[in-house]
Amino acid sequence: MPDYKHSIPPETGLLVKEAALAAMSAWVAAIANNIKNPVAGIGAAIDILDRDLERLDGDTGVSLASPRETISRIKIRMSLLNEYVTELVDFAKPPNVFPARIELDPVISVIKEGIADLGADPETVQSGLTDDTHQITADEGRLVLILKSLVLNGIEAIGSNKKAKILIAAQRQYNGRSHGVLLSVEDNGPGFFDNVITHIFDPFFSTKEASTGLGLTLVKKYVDAHRGTIMISTSKSLGGAKVEMFFPD
Ligand SMILES: Nc1ncnc2c1ncn2[C@@H]1O[C@H](COP(=O)(O)OP(=O)(O)OP(=O)(O)O)[C@@H](O)[C@H]1O
Ligand SMILES: [Mg+2]
Repeated sequence: MPDYKHSIPPETGLLVKEAALAAMSAWVAAIANNIKNPVAGIGAAIDILDRDLERLDGDTGVSLASPRETISRIKIRMSLLNEYVTELVDFAKPPNVFPARIELDPVISVIKEGIADLGADPETVQSGLTDDTHQITADEGRLVLILKSLVLNGIEAIGSNKKAKILIAAQRQYNGRSHGVLLSVEDNGPGFFDNVITHIFDPFFSTKEASTGLGLTLVKKYVDAHRGTIMISTSKSLGGAKVEMFFPD
């Protein structure tokens, strides 16, 4: 006979989970707010320092190339920290997105630069845009976060034993209600494993040792905020994971 004394009904389990998530969101929001202002202040101070050094570089006989190089490295780390704070804030409350008609090519260039800053080969990322998909309706900052998160997931899944290939492609589509762009990110990794696929959008779910597990939770949250849809499948051309997102015009 099973021991029912210690089991809780599934609906109670769900409420406990929701309450825990609400408490966690409030906690994350408090941390994010406490670091947001100092991060912005440090960023502004570094910009001033950078401008001062640029001016002095021409005026003095001493080369300031080395400190300016250090400042540019600090700026890269600061922008990663800023992205992280944005993600924490967005996790804690519904994100405010401001979709506009934007160019996709510069966004893909930013993604390539971002992964180069992290030490990966920017040529890992290939762009497969069609003539009619160079523009998309999206919040540019959030689209960068979405694509960066998906590209990093691909690179992490492929690992170091194989040359990584990530394809960012797009096509125009009508989804029965609106016209828009179907944007996809696919890789040549092992694909989503069956035992993880039902959890990938759960906050803090990760199979990696040092990861937060907020990546896909936020990607879905951002796509939802654009009134879009997200689908997971296997890449036909590359064999690994494929994530497709529909962004209505
Ligand atoms: N391209 C992919 N191929 C195979 N598995 C993937 C891929 N992307 C995500 N996954 C699986 O889904 C899990 C959740 O991904 P998610 O991006 O939400 O978290 P994470 O990458 O583990 O952590 P974080 O994004 O916060 O650094 C991953 O831990 C991994 O197991
Ligand atoms: Mg991730």
